[in-house]
Amino acid sequence: MRILFSAPQYEYEMIREQWLEAVAKIARQGVFVGGPPVSEFEAAFAAYLQAEGTVGVGNGTDAIYLALQALGVGPDDEVITAANTFVATVGAIHHTGARPVLVDCNEHYLIDLERVKECVTSRTKAIIPVHLYGKMADLKAIAPWAAERGIALIEDCAQAAGASLDGIAAGRWGVMGCFSFYPDKNLGALGDGGAVVSSSFEMIAKLRKLRNHGGEVRYQHEICGYNSRLDPIQASALQLKLRYLDDWNNRRREIARHYRFYLGAVEFLTLPEFADDNSHVFHLYVVRVKYGLRDALKKHLQKKGVLTAVQYPVPVHRLPAYAHLGYKAGDFPHAELYAGEILSLPMHVAMTENEVRFIASEIRTFYESCQTVGR
Ligand SMILES: Cc1ncc(COP(=O)(O)O)c(C=O)c1O
Repeated sequence: MRILFSAPQYEYEMIREQWLEAVAKIARQGVFVGGPPVSEFEAAFAAYLQAEGTVGVGNGTDAIYLALQALGVGPDDEVITAANTFVATVGAIHHTGARPVLVDCNEHYLIDLERVKECVTSRTKAIIPVHLYGKMADLKAIAPWAAERGIALIEDCAQAAGASLDGIAAGRWGVMGCFSFYPDKNLGALGDGGAVVSSSFEMIAKLRKLRNHGGEVRYQHEICGYNSRLDPIQASALQLKLRYLDDWNNRRREIARHYRFYLGAVEFLTLPEFADDNSHVFHLYVVRVKYGLRDALKKHLQKKGVLTAVQYPVPVHRLPAYAHLGYKAGDFPHAELYAGEILSLPMHVAMTENEVRFIASEIRTFYESCQTVGR
């Protein structure tokens, strides 16, 4: 058996005919940058999220960077985010000139919001909680807390398209929400793409300029901007995929339910928390493997044709790129411990219960063999 880790090619098959027609139309019209496909997707995505607007940009990293720029974040400012996020969140902060301030995660891999409060200083301009693996950080208390202090909440929604908490979509809790449409994401384009969602007209207007050389009208550059636009060919794919997003997220939850059923009694694993609501879209299904057996289990599964991944093997403060922040080993005990234990099992909309059963049985076989040889 061969079980893929993710399956963007399956999702592509679902939209292929319509997407190829849309691409042909773009080619016929000769409008290869911007145009109706981008504005139509932006409107559809805003309606889906029930927000005032979304602004399509080049990728998820730019979405965060431009959101910070729209707020005027720069040198001498501090921006708080999670130590266990994908490096892009911290890179985006770094490139504004602000100092990234890192905070440990809790046992659900989400930024520890109590610790966030302790890290706020007079320089803190923004907090970026990351809805890691598709699970929403519980922003109910921190959102008003930050607002009272004039600190902007920007959500990193790269892994959580379609998740919601108390009926409010990921991306709408903060002043802005930043999405990545990297092909493997649960709302993925067929190449790079990203978007910022906001219900602030001021932010939306600013982002539209920032992504397009500082102005919406050609040669009228009102502010210093960049070139980071969502490609119309990608926007066409995203608009087609958006129609499936809720179904696909439900399918992911179903796969997670199967994992819970078949792996629930496996003692050396810690499974992700499963709330029977919309707060987790299971972009990734991440377990923790006890007794230092993660890498051996990964190898065993690979031999059996099951592809897995580690997201992420090194917390940001232990990466050479961010050594200058001055953090040291032991500063973020959860992030550091989990980096050695986490394993992302296959999770995609084309998976079957049978495949989950096979993976679970291989995991059990592996563990039994470890016990036999006394590892
Ligand atoms: C949590 C997180 N933030 C930001 C990004 C950056 O997105 P992109 O790869 O589209 O630049 C990613 C995507 O990989 C991500 O997973």
